[in-house]
Amino acid sequence: MTAWWRDAVGYEVYVRSFADADGDGVGDLPGIVARLDHLADLGVDIVWVTPFYPSPMLDHGYDVADYTDVAAELGSLADADALVAGAHDRGMRLLVDLVPNHSSSEHPWFRSARRGRDDPYRDYYVWRDPAPDGGPPNNWRSHFGGPAWTLDETSGQYWLHLFLPEQPDLNWANPAVHDEFEAILRFWLERGADGFRIDVAHSLVKHPDLPDDPLAVVSDEYEAGVTADDFEALEHRYDLDQPGVVDVYRRWRGIADEFGAVLIGEVYILEAGGLDRYLTAEGLHLAFWFAPLHRVWDPAALRAVLREGTDLAQRVDGGVGWVQGSHDVSRAVARYGGGQVGRERALAFGVLLSLLPGTPFLYQGEELGVDDPVIRPEDAQDPIAARNGAYDKGRDVARTPMPWAPGPGLGFTSAPRAWLPFGDRRPEDTVAVQRADPASTLSAHRRLLAARRPLLPLPRDVAWLTDDGGVVAYRRGDVVVAANLGDDPEDVDLGAPGASVRFGTDRAREGSPAGPRVRLAPREAVILAS
Ligand code: GLC
Repeated sequence: MTAWWRDAVGYEVYVRSFADADGDGVGDLPGIVARLDHLADLGVDIVWVTPFYPSPMLDHGYDVADYTDVAAELGSLADADALVAGAHDRGMRLLVDLVPNHSSSEHPWFRSARRGRDDPYRDYYVWRDPAPDGGPPNNWRSHFGGPAWTLDETSGQYWLHLFLPEQPDLNWANPAVHDEFEAILRFWLERGADGFRIDVAHSLVKHPDLPDDPLAVVSDEYEAGVTADDFEALEHRYDLDQPGVVDVYRRWRGIADEFGAVLIGEVYILEAGGLDRYLTAEGLHLAFWFAPLHRVWDPAALRAVLREGTDLAQRVDGGVGWVQGSHDVSRAVARYGGGQVGRERALAFGVLLSLLPGTPFLYQGEELGVDDPVIRPEDAQDPIAARNGAYDKGRDVARTPMPWAPGPGLGFTSAPRAWLPFGDRRPEDTVAVQRADPASTLSAHRRLLAARRPLLPLPRDVAWLTDDGGVVAYRRGDVVVAANLGDDPEDVDLGAPGASVRFGTDRAREGSPAGPRVRLAPREAVILAS
């Protein structure tokens, strides 16, 4: 079987905000189908679509009420088939977002389980008697704030939910849950899906005794801001990353390999060593490496985190998914300072990611360099905002509609309003305007992905060419990738005297000889090859 995902370029579509075909202000599957050419033209190989299952949408689809159907608001199973076919027609693959840690409280399994302690589905979820004082069984916290337990008045027991109370955690100690999910995997693979992005993939299995988690020593190396503070106040020794979780993937790996499909885990572990055991030959094919999302803009810190992810990619059988954004975090452009400087920084960093060993993923809108918009508290939709009153922590900033064209509705919808504000996009933020402008961020991404393709495959070895200063650079085989992440111009010897510039953020450089020393302007990046 060919590892078609290695060196491929992935793209995350946040379904509610990509393209709205039916004019209700919410993106949908037919909308994606109508925009697949944008992705093919960009040079994308793998399209990951966020959950489109029937759902109360309290976590915008990550609360699944039926794993083998499509939400009416987002389309139908026939539309899902058309999406798979449309991607395949263009030489792209399609990944379904699988949410196995929890279902919606509206899933028939949970509705049944709530009927009482003797219900046949009771053991699909995690129930415990109250602590002696009547409170929750242990000190675990929800990712979205508040306790991870809610009392079920009918039975007098608490149910576990690492996210919203309406997202009850499934009980992976129950073999029936394994059987259900194996059937779900087959359902989508038989419909032609090419694999899965696995939601909170490190979290399914819990310690059987459910002990209290110790208090965390919070390191200030990581920029917080993804989740609610009280979740970060605990060291997640017993609720996350338990030994048995990889056994789940061993079974799934067998199924995926039957279909030539890929399993990509959202394994949210920020020390690379913690990912090794997920990326064995019997484990996940790929895991995202999220640590770069938690670094401030500092060349030394970024160089270190890229090297850490690269070392991981070189020592494991599986691969690394390189990202600088997602639907869960503030946009890279904003995290890097915003505006033109933030845009140039995100592009330069993206150039570095593009040829590291592994699979780079773009999050929708990154190819346009869009910044975080202002979300007014009354427009907030993210449950993190509502549960904590912490509007500045909400994830809505990364989820506003994709700006396709200037004008009302941004080419995203014909409705006067979308489910989230349009976000004050400027004409020059849109696909239509950027497509016509060779100097745009979109044009740079298209040139980048087109330039990288003929250089592949590259040797696995990566030689890092700089240890300090603003320029971060590496060599793989005959290819050198360099970006000046500093704020001053720098002259560097990249050891590639006969090479020419295959890609440059300054496109005037493309095609010219690199010369023995290369001078890089602040935030300038190049790919050289001989
Ligand atoms: C993942 C998703 C996030 C969701 C959560 C619960 O982290 O990326 O959007 O809220 O899981 O399913």
